[in-house]
Amino acid sequence: MTIPSTTPRIAMYAGSFDPITNGHEDLIKRTLAFADRIFVAVATNINKKPLFAAEERVAFIKTVVGDSSRIEVRKFDGLLVNFAKDVGAVLNVRGIRSVSDFESETQMAVMNRRMFPSLETVFLTASPDTTFISSSLIREVARFGGDVSGLVHPAIADALTKKFR
Ligand code: COA
Repeated sequence: MTIPSTTPRIAMYAGSFDPITNGHEDLIKRTLAFADRIFVAVATNINKKPLFAAEERVAFIKTVVGDSSRIEVRKFDGLLVNFAKDVGAVLNVRGIRSVSDFESETQMAVMNRRMFPSLETVFLTASPDTTFISSSLIREVARFGGDVSGLVHPAIADALTKKFR
């Protein structure tokens, strides 16, 4: 198969991002090494009750990633594969921190592939200093006044402090 060199490689990275952590930021930046553009897709996870509204989560991500024409942040409802079709994404980036991530991510990757075979799921191993981070752990530590600096962007640490004040 020949891929024309002019075809832009569009990636997507979906999640609840409640809130965005250094682990998510790491993945977004690393994706730009092999994709031309990345859509960061703020999802409604029906199994979770978010701390921050979707609009706030989008705004936080924009603050963290800064101004780049190669990164677009959007919220979405419904199926990930439909979002991919809407934005023309061909790569679905997922982070793997542990064996348990691999198990659940493989299950989702196969389901997504069944629905939309031309979307390729790509697993990136989390950087060692982010393997223990999750948004819910960050929320919990912040809720009880623990220090989350170094695990999230300073603006996110501030937002958490304000939220739990
Ligand atoms: N660094 C730090 N944290 C990470 C991470 C990384 N590299 N990778 C994952 N995490 C954390 C997330 O913050 C999240 O933390 P939390 O559970 O404490 O909030 C946790 O690991 C799980 O991440 P993820 O599996 O990405 O869950 P999510 O809720 O963020 O996103 C969706 C799940 C949105 C991708 C999934 O529900 C979805 O695709 N929804 C759309 C509907 C759909 O298409 N469903 C069918 C799927 S087959």
